[in-house]
Amino acid sequence: MALDNLRAFVEAIDRAGQLRRVEPPVSVERELTEIADRCMKAPGGGPALLVQRPVLRGGGSSACPVAVNLFGSDRRMALALGVERVDDVGERLTALLNLKVPDSLFGKLAMLPQLAEVAKFPPRVTTGRAPCQATVLRGTEVDLGTLPVPVCWPEDGGPYITLSGVITRDPATGVRNVGMYRVQVLGPREVAMHWQRHKVGAAHWRTLAARGERMPVAIALGGDPASIYAASAPLPPSIDEYLFAGFLRREPVRLAKAITSDLDVPAEAEIVLEGYIDPAEDLVLEGPFGDHTGFYSLADYYPRVHITAVTSRADPIYPHTIVGRPPMEDFYLGQATERIFLPLLKLTLPEIVDLHMPAEGIFHNLVFVSIDKQYPGQAYKVMNGLWGQGLMALAKVIIVLDHDVNVRDPKEAWWVALNHIDPERDVRFSMGPIDVLDHASRGFTFGSKMGIDATRKWKEEGFTREWPRRIVMDDATKQRVDAMWKDLGIDL
Ligand SMILES: Cc1cc2nc3c(=O)[nH]c(=O)nc-3n(C[C@H](O)[C@H](O)[C@H](O)COP(=O)(O)O)c2cc1C
Repeated sequence: MALDNLRAFVEAIDRAGQLRRVEPPVSVERELTEIADRCMKAPGGGPALLVQRPVLRGGGSSACPVAVNLFGSDRRMALALGVERVDDVGERLTALLNLKVPDSLFGKLAMLPQLAEVAKFPPRVTTGRAPCQATVLRGTEVDLGTLPVPVCWPEDGGPYITLSGVITRDPATGVRNVGMYRVQVLGPREVAMHWQRHKVGAAHWRTLAARGERMPVAIALGGDPASIYAASAPLPPSIDEYLFAGFLRREPVRLAKAITSDLDVPAEAEIVLEGYIDPAEDLVLEGPFGDHTGFYSLADYYPRVHITAVTSRADPIYPHTIVGRPPMEDFYLGQATERIFLPLLKLTLPEIVDLHMPAEGIFHNLVFVSIDKQYPGQAYKVMNGLWGQGLMALAKVIIVLDHDVNVRDPKEAWWVALNHIDPERDVRFSMGPIDVLDHASRGFTFGSKMGIDATRKWKEEGFTREWPRRIVMDDATKQRVDAMWKDLGIDL
């Protein structure tokens, strides 16, 4: 049975022994970050927390507990997706999409809604009162200051909603998008929407702004854990994240009609903010924000969302995450995407054996990829291929290694890569789009990329010297030492 909402996820985490209930009052202003950060830095991701008595920014405690680090371990990520191993999801998806056409990752993913296994679970709009609309506040009844929205880091521009599902609709096709974008609270009924220019919500906004039309937006907090994850997954614009979540859950996501717009929102959400963007209005200054790079992202201009209604369950839990110097909770969300999308990447780049984005590389800065090299120059084919696949276009450094290197172990990958390269010969620079959060590129979202061929070099690639073998002890010696180990008196 799939988990239907955040509280069911919290209970499942509790049963797995990975939840800590924090009883003493904790301020949402920085204290909560410091506590969550210490947990997230613990080996394996630390426990999930349910902070029972959050203290609001203006003082006074909130009746709404804050849940943080819910997705921050391998076990919890698997629980969220209802599987034993997250890799299983990628294999299930690949089996579905292993079709001859179309031949690109995006093209294959775009086929998803047409496949019977997925079409079985379209999101369903429920009738009757949705749990997320037990309480409805409209217009001037709304005061976002009553929600326990944390101010994470000392130099942040304000309080930020971080574990969001931002719902918009493609004005041309009507396809829904749900994106995890941070949202800065500007006032009682105003927020700034930080969708970056490469993201689908931002594309919807550009189209509507060019037409001069109002844009309805809903911000869902909570809901079933597969839907929350799906908002962070880099799906093509033609895929509704709630359809994808239905595929993950093997059960449809239940939706409800929003109260003040024609969008649909997750019926099982804890809290939903409904609103709109007015194209006639100037953008507002958003940020700075202590970001997942480990540095503050600079303030910049983004659309203002006017909140027309806040709906919630009778006793909502406020879902939250923090970002900052890695590793943080988002590493586990990103790793799920890495595992789920790897088999799909292999459909278009079949020589790929494995791929890994280490936490310190914050996804886009560093990609290790191992390949089954069959011909000269194949490492370059793979790096160029990766730069052509969806958000992989933002990868700053790609290091290609041979199939026998365990790229999921960054220490091994660095050790082999640094041994195997002649820097001047094996490093290539390219140009392309750069992640909005990159503060070093020559231009905003534009700059260079580095590809490193750390595979063994072949004669045809101009390498005429002998290539050495890796040092490995023979099995017979290992077994003899195993047998005598206890008697040696060496305690390791
Ligand atoms: C915790 C967390 C916070 C994020 N914050 C943002 C953000 O503020 N803006 C943004 O554009 N992407 C953000 N992302 C990345 C997007 O969620 C991700 O790129 C997703 O694929 C976007 O969805 P879309 O492809 O439908 O646009 C965040 C991801 C995580 C895990």
